[in-house]
Amino acid sequence: MALARVQHGKNGMFVGYVDISTARAIAGWAWNTEENKQTAVVIKCPDSSIVTVEATSARPDVGEKLNIDQGCGFTFSPNYAGYYTVHFENGELMPNGVVCIAAERIRRRHYVEDYQALVKSLFEQYAPEEAASLAVGGHYDVLGDLEIALLCYLGVDMASDIIDVGCGSGRLATKLAPNGFTGSYLGTDVVPELLNFAQERSPTTFRVEQVEELRIPADDCSADVVTVFSVFTHLRHEESYIYLREMYRVLRPQGCVILSFYEFADYNWSIFEDTAKATEAGTLQHLNVFIERKAIELWSEHLGFSVERFICGNDACIPTDRGPAAMFQSIAVLRKLP
Ligand SMILES: C[S@@+](CC[C@H](N)C(=O)[O-])C[C@H]1O[C@@H](n2cnc3c(N)ncnc32)[C@H](O)[C@@H]1O
Repeated sequence: MALARVQHGKNGMFVGYVDISTARAIAGWAWNTEENKQTAVVIKCPDSSIVTVEATSARPDVGEKLNIDQGCGFTFSPNYAGYYTVHFENGELMPNGVVCIAAERIRRRHYVEDYQALVKSLFEQYAPEEAASLAVGGHYDVLGDLEIALLCYLGVDMASDIIDVGCGSGRLATKLAPNGFTGSYLGTDVVPELLNFAQERSPTTFRVEQVEELRIPADDCSADVVTVFSVFTHLRHEESYIYLREMYRVLRPQGCVILSFYEFADYNWSIFEDTAKATEAGTLQHLNVFIERKAIELWSEHLGFSVERFICGNDACIPTDRGPAAMFQSIAVLRKLP
């Protein structure tokens, strides 16, 4: 989204302003048209600080228009949030040049904004234990027990290297060690408060990492199992697909993804209806997304997974201490083909 018109400014001239109150970064481009070369941009912030950014990264869209074959893009990530203006000027690095700047706002990801806001408000209203449980949908112990029971039912080796994407406040992490887990654990999430909560209640060898993009901070072929409980339920289909591609990367051949999802089925109807009502009222706290099995099959086919198994969310097939239980969300098990 363009927030400042393309401007042609002489040395030191103000060429634009940006509202970055909801932006993660400002992206733009600049080119010294007088000397026909790459340049730097001096950004003056209202707190009087000045930042110099090299405009040298690839911007093929602009390069084509200006007929230049070098990078002219830049991004600037302010280190504090809130509404303020940013002034672009050409500065000492380009004393006699002319600079053209377009500023664009890169929005923060919807899931980061939504979940960070939700968790902030829960921690303001409730005691930490309660807030950390509500943030991941409640029933902290019951669902944690169910998640570990599902892994055992699916034959997951308790010495595996597990990555728990969207681990939240550690519903699964806190149940692993008491169930004899001796493998390695990496949990990722977009909310630092939840990761801290999970870390404090897990063995010190467990690692947690904050992410904002659809990335997993792990090496290629380094994991046996990736668990994704109630995360694709809040992502757009394209985002789930991108995440699955990343999961494929970090899994060893024959490794598996165990993911939960909402599918269109009678037992899920109330969730869909509540989501529709909240959408209408403008009170939806985060996306609730339903996925058809066909979509999971197609994604798998394109990414190199075989769909090993679907379990319907109301199928009480998981043995637990309290008797056979259902997961409430449907489960897909995807195996990375060798
Ligand atoms: C319903 S909770 C489930 C948490 C956990 N998997 C569990 O079963 O207890 C969804 C979690 O996904 C996290 N989340 C949302 N989008 C994410 C993303 N793109 N990457 C990683 N985590 C994400 C949220 O912050 C939240 O903690």
